[in-house]
Amino acid sequence: MSVPPVLTSTYVKGGEVGYARDGNPTWSAFEEAIGALEGGRALAFSSGMGAVSAVLGVVPLGAVVAAPMDAYTGTRFLMTDLEKKGRLRFAPVDVTDAGATLSVLEDGGMLWIESPTNPMLRIADIEQLAQGAHERGATVVVDNTFATPLLQNPLELGADVVVHSATKYLSGHSDVLLGAVVTRDDGLYDEYYEARVLGGAIPGPMETFLALRGMRTLGVRLERQLANAMELATRLDADARVTKVRYPGLGNDPGHELAARQMRGFGAIVSFELTSVEASDALCEAIELIAHTTSLGGVETTLERRGTWEGEELTPGSLIRMSVGCENVEDLWSDLSSALGPPSTV
Ligand SMILES: Cc1ncc(COP(=O)(O)O)c(C=O)c1O
Repeated sequence: MSVPPVLTSTYVKGGEVGYARDGNPTWSAFEEAIGALEGGRALAFSSGMGAVSAVLGVVPLGAVVAAPMDAYTGTRFLMTDLEKKGRLRFAPVDVTDAGATLSVLEDGGMLWIESPTNPMLRIADIEQLAQGAHERGATVVVDNTFATPLLQNPLELGADVVVHSATKYLSGHSDVLLGAVVTRDDGLYDEYYEARVLGGAIPGPMETFLALRGMRTLGVRLERQLANAMELATRLDADARVTKVRYPGLGNDPGHELAARQMRGFGAIVSFELTSVEASDALCEAIELIAHTTSLGGVETTLERRGTWEGEELTPGSLIRMSVGCENVEDLWSDLSSALGPPSTV
């Protein structure tokens, strides 16, 4: 019933795999699961960034890589670093503006999409962008961490590659760092496989075991998390102490219509803004049940003010990104509502 964590650094000669940097039965079981969910062949990496590095590592020298200006900071920092080293040319774009995004692409380049983006929760039209990017000869990669394969399948929408930080929803219990790449392109698969073997960013057998265990409940966790997120977003949106709520599930969100078409659910990240940076910092201090921490996708609700991180200069200062968990929604609202404090008299 359960694939065990196979803890070995090498194998007796005569089998399919020679050395443990080349393969492991526990990785294979995880890869089979995520590959089946995304509709492609998967490779596991030591972290989401390990997966991102492998994908960026095979773009042609000097190629243009367009990515959301509000993509995950680690991804943007890596692209900026690779640009400084002359490896590629990084073009930050607004992925909600297909015309402007496609106009920067060149033959042999790459379009990197996040949808919803982290932390602004902007929605990109993956199908339209993939079609336009392919017409211009660019490869299309989608970081599907926020949506998970249960809510969105980018390969079905025309993307060439899907990247995951399996650290988040796939593992789901805030106890694992893990990444994955999924593709239907055998040539790219071979390149990523070689990048993993030679680069050495291999996953741990325990991590893939825990991720597999987590994925067994992905569906039920998401069901609860999505319902909680919708309820909290709706209540925050109606609350005078909150100045703006970003959640694609809300009818008034600019990405709502597209998300309703493209996704099978709106995700469980809710971003919201308060009257000031100080008010947001006070909320982060005051919460008791919800954890004040970075990262996301676990069964526990967590939040943080994203502006506390370097690289979030374009993010509104007071913006709080909340990863909604599986707790009782009334407990969550009671914590949030008391941490929001009395209405401002100013
Ligand atoms: C959207 C997204 N992609 C990639 C990563 C990187 O993943 P990891 O932390 O597993 O390296 C993160 C981490 O927060 C993320 O939010």
